[in-house]
Amino acid sequence: MTGDLVMITGAARGIGRACATAFAAGGADLVLLDVAEEIDGVPYPLGTRSQLEATAALCRDHGVSVTTERVDIRDTAGASAAVGRTLERYGRIDVLVNNAGLVSPSGKPVHEVTDDDWQLMIDVDLTGAFRMMRLVLPGMVRRGSGAVVNIASTAGLVGYRHFAGYVAAKHGLIGLTKAAALDYAPHGVRVNAVCPGSVRDDPDLEGVMLAEIARCLELPGTEHEKTFVATQPTNRLVRAQDVAASVKWLASADATDVTGSVVTVDGGYTVR
Ligand SMILES: NC(=O)c1ccc[n+]([C@@H]2O[C@H](COP(=O)([O-])OP(=O)(O)OC[C@H]3O[C@@H](n4cnc5c(N)ncnc54)[C@H](O)[C@@H]3O)[C@@H](O)[C@H]2O)c1
Repeated sequence: MTGDLVMITGAARGIGRACATAFAAGGADLVLLDVAEEIDGVPYPLGTRSQLEATAALCRDHGVSVTTERVDIRDTAGASAAVGRTLERYGRIDVLVNNAGLVSPSGKPVHEVTDDDWQLMIDVDLTGAFRMMRLVLPGMVRRGSGAVVNIASTAGLVGYRHFAGYVAAKHGLIGLTKAAALDYAPHGVRVNAVCPGSVRDDPDLEGVMLAEIARCLELPGTEHEKTFVATQPTNRLVRAQDVAASVKWLASADATDVTGSVVTVDGGYTVR
């Protein structure tokens, strides 16, 4: 992928950081987006400016060009400006990875979910990806090539108790992926989704999502990984690097005929 321009949302930490370094190792130039500040109504800390710059530094170690943008994917104007600056600087976006996502406000049954809780989850986890696609796809269509990879979740395939907003948004993201795959197949642009299962909060990547899921489920702090491992057919948690490898493959020329696919990286969780 040497010389390709890859844009990744939610790149400050976690799976976004794993994806960024995987693409950088393959020689791709990167534009890394993250809100990099707290969002009202989100009950856990989000990525920070210094984490976003740390991801960029790790990528630059591979000798590629990296630009960071502080963008909230709920903000159409901000996202549009970032895409505009990218096209001005690099001339194109070859790959868009819609990774930014929230897992909560969650932890309650449907009748306790407020309008604000619901709006926030859908706005970030579903509409955020839609906004980014709407901004980036016209350039891909003009060039007759491009790939979008949406990071959904096993929550896009099955239900999880007390996570209605997350589950609904991720099911919607898979629907959006399939519809867009059909819209853009005639234009040489592919759209696929990856569904990670329970991903370990790797300290090197500074991810916190599994801990937040555990908090929502009221699982004991230090014990929660064991509980998630017990539900995995493979008897271990998924590595963010394995998710990133699937994302990179879907974005690459090796997946030329793959579009509208939903690739699970879940240790077999959803096949039972
Ligand atoms: N960790 C898991 O177990 C797991 C499992 C399945 C799916 N996923 C999905 O993978 C993706 C990444 O998850 P992660 O575990 O790395 O989480 P994370 O919380 O560690 O990282 C998410 C990043 O997205 C950013 N972000 C959140 N809202 C944003 C917004 N409005 N605009 C821009 N950036 C925003 C955060 O600041 C953070 O840096 C998410 O879409 C998540 O739903 C994660």
